[in-house]
Amino acid sequence: MLLKFPSFRFSLLLLLLILKLVASSPTEKEFTFNGFSGANLTLDGIATVSSDGLLILTNTSEKQKSHAFHPSPLSFRRNLSDGSIPSFSTTFAFAIVPTENAGIGGHGIAFVITPSTDFSNALSDQYLSLFNESNNGDAANHVVAIELDTILNIEFKDINDNHVGIDVNGLRSEESRPAGYYADDTGEFRNLTLISGKAMQVWVDYNGPDAKLKVTLSPINAIGTPTMKPTKPLMSFTVNLSAVLLDLPVHVGFSAGTYPLLTFQYVLGWSFAMNVGQAHAPPLNYSKLPAIPRMNLKGHKSRTLGLGLAVASLVFVLLVTFVAFAVARWRSRYSELREDWELEFGPHRFSYRDLFRATNGFRERELLGAGGFGKVYRGTLPTSRAEVAVKRVSHESRQGMRQFVAEIVSMGRLRHRNIVQLLGYCRRKGELLLVYDFVPNGSLDKYLHYDRAHKPALGWSQRFRIVKGVAAGLLYLHEEWEQVVVHRDIKASNVLLDGEMNARLGDFGLARLYDHGTDPQTTHVVGTTGYIAPELARTSRATTATDVFAFGVFILEVACGRRPVEQPTVGWQGEQFLLVDWVTENWRKGSILDTVDAGLGGEYAREEAEMVLKLGLMCSHPQPAARPSMRLVVQYLEGHVPLPEPSPAYLCFTKLSFPHNVGFDDYVASYSSSVPSASTLSGGR
Ligand SMILES: *[C@@H]1O[C@H](CO)[C@@H](O)[C@H](O)[C@H]1NC(C)=O
Ligand SMILES: *[C@@H]1O[C@H](CO)[C@@H](O)[C@H](O)[C@H]1NC(C)=O
Ligand SMILES: *[C@@H]1O[C@H](CO)[C@@H](O)[C@H](O)[C@H]1NC(C)=O
Ligand SMILES: *[C@@H]1O[C@H](CO)[C@@H](O)[C@H](O)[C@H]1NC(C)=O
Ligand SMILES: *[C@@H]1O[C@H](CO)[C@@H](O)[C@H](O)[C@H]1NC(C)=O
Ligand SMILES: *[C@@H]1O[C@H](CO)[C@@H](O)[C@H](O)[C@H]1NC(C)=O
Ligand SMILES: *[C@@H]1O[C@H](CO)[C@@H](O)[C@H](O)[C@H]1NC(C)=O
Repeated sequence: MLLKFPSFRFSLLLLLLILKLVASSPTEKEFTFNGFSGANLTLDGIATVSSDGLLILTNTSEKQKSHAFHPSPLSFRRNLSDGSIPSFSTTFAFAIVPTENAGIGGHGIAFVITPSTDFSNALSDQYLSLFNESNNGDAANHVVAIELDTILNIEFKDINDNHVGIDVNGLRSEESRPAGYYADDTGEFRNLTLISGKAMQVWVDYNGPDAKLKVTLSPINAIGTPTMKPTKPLMSFTVNLSAVLLDLPVHVGFSAGTYPLLTFQYVLGWSFAMNVGQAHAPPLNYSKLPAIPRMNLKGHKSRTLGLGLAVASLVFVLLVTFVAFAVARWRSRYSELREDWELEFGPHRFSYRDLFRATNGFRERELLGAGGFGKVYRGTLPTSRAEVAVKRVSHESRQGMRQFVAEIVSMGRLRHRNIVQLLGYCRRKGELLLVYDFVPNGSLDKYLHYDRAHKPALGWSQRFRIVKGVAAGLLYLHEEWEQVVVHRDIKASNVLLDGEMNARLGDFGLARLYDHGTDPQTTHVVGTTGYIAPELARTSRATTATDVFAFGVFILEVACGRRPVEQPTVGWQGEQFLLVDWVTENWRKGSILDTVDAGLGGEYAREEAEMVLKLGLMCSHPQPAARPSMRLVVQYLEGHVPLPEPSPAYLCFTKLSFPHNVGFDDYVASYSSSVPSASTLSGGR
């Protein structure tokens, strides 16, 4: 028996008639409410129907339950042969309107099929006025609900705070999806925000025989214009409701509740159909649906005023906090550390603000490189427009800072064409900034090793000039300035190339920052693996001789185009490659020129190359006393003094040349007393 009722008043009359005729069971199979005026819904809690037919499930009354059911129960009469309930289909238009002050609120709305309308023990909060803690999830509930959930409840394993879920006997959804729909034109998924105040429509379609439940959501573009049901449902889920629902007549309707989080929740229209085969809920007549009140302020004037004041004062407090924070931030942004003893270094002091501006706020784009001591940024000083490199060195201890700054500043007086000019410094909390001349072509490292594909290969004459340049710079540091300066970290990456590809030695003395104030017992070696002289590894005392050792390794690196230490690569013998050992080995075999960088294609001056290689070995001699001074090195390189043939005794020391082999206390001990002291800067000349 299938009946279509054009209006509810009429349907009610008919219903009464039918009830009289078929007194045994309620049999209504289809209904439509385009607005609920005169619908005689069974209301509970704060649910009301407004004069223009809007079903108001919740308003801003706190901790209230709300239910609205179809006036009469329905019977999902089973098919006796396969035990399935009939198919049913329902659709309803709803709106969840946030309160004035919040974009969050409420817990949502549930469409519910339930054997009982007694929810006196249910909770109005996240239990949606359907269940309580003890009966949530209980199979004895025989309740099916479709939730429009606007709060993320962890205990129910909610997927988010804006989803549609299928609930069976409890609020832990069998299946749920973020609110949205699949657009028919493109097939793409479009998000919807349930708590947006906008009208939307839900379709719930259950097919009895194959136990498939489909839920579809769609926006209603404007009240009055028809909405097409999207072809692809939001979710299609197999759940045998025949096994959940009882044979008893059931109630269909809506449930909601209010807790401290509040929203206005409305149902605008609703239709329902039940059928043994396919069921299709009658379409809603959108032009008859009631309008959604924009802002429901009735009866809330004083409350709203109070709320407004509270919000205003909150905003004010936030504003004041923000301004205070911004000022503090502005201050701390440019704050520096300045102490009395620094007055004498005044001219060498840069303001942090200038450096910050010069480097565009130390932006990544200005980053030139990052080394063991910190990051280096390129910058242009605001007033002079001079190009500089700013090195940020972080340090924790204040200990020894005065002495270090004194040294750094005194190094600012170093002037040599093969030395990177230090222009000045700046101090902040936990940080030291060093300002250097900008050297355009960057570090030699790149040309020798990792960036070879992009950088022009260095020819032999360029390499020889670089070797001579570094030697001259180091001689200046060791012997020609007013104090002895030990560089401590000579390596290819600390040699920079200027516009004419002249070598400029950078980063001198920085290693000392890590020596100051530390316990001599625990000082660790500062330097770079492969360049560390054996006695330095043993005693941690940097001297001019340890610089010479590193210089020797460095010039071998320049001539051979290989790193001092190379880790075994896959397929290799599994032993570390040690440059010094390799060159020594070739020398012993009389094939020393085989070690010259193959990248030169054989284009190099043989005598010069041989001299550089032998000088490299001589300088990286394990015995400090056997190494030449930088003055002698420069004389060899300039050809003023012929390089002596090394004594055969030298060969005995191969395989001893690297720190990892240092275990020979005897010779280290015998030489360590004869080398200059480590605190080389303090000793005047
Ligand atoms: C909410 O609706 C109920 C039922 O109509 C009413 O009694 C109550 O006063 C309303 N609350 C507010 C805050 O408007
Ligand atoms: C509304 O429905 C209830 C329950 O079905 C019924 O008792 C009542 O008489 C109805 N009221 C009207 C005005 O139809
Ligand atoms: C009952 O189920 C059987 C088997 O699925 C089917 O052939 C029959 O048409 C159904 N009858 C009704 C009234 O749904
Ligand atoms: C929960 O609801 C059920 C069913 O109404 C009731 O029997 C039970 O006592 C309630 N439990 C609590 C803790 O309220
Ligand atoms: C839809 O919402 C989800 C989260 O709920 C988000 O990840 C996604 O980017 C949104 N898509 C669009 C098109 O807004
Ligand atoms: C669904 O459950 C009912 C009752 O438990 C059973 O008779 C029927 O075979 C089930 N249907 C499906 C498709 O599993
Ligand atoms: C919808 O309702 C309007 C106003 O009552 C009516 O004119 C129109 O024919 C109805 N449309 C449909 C499709 O029933």
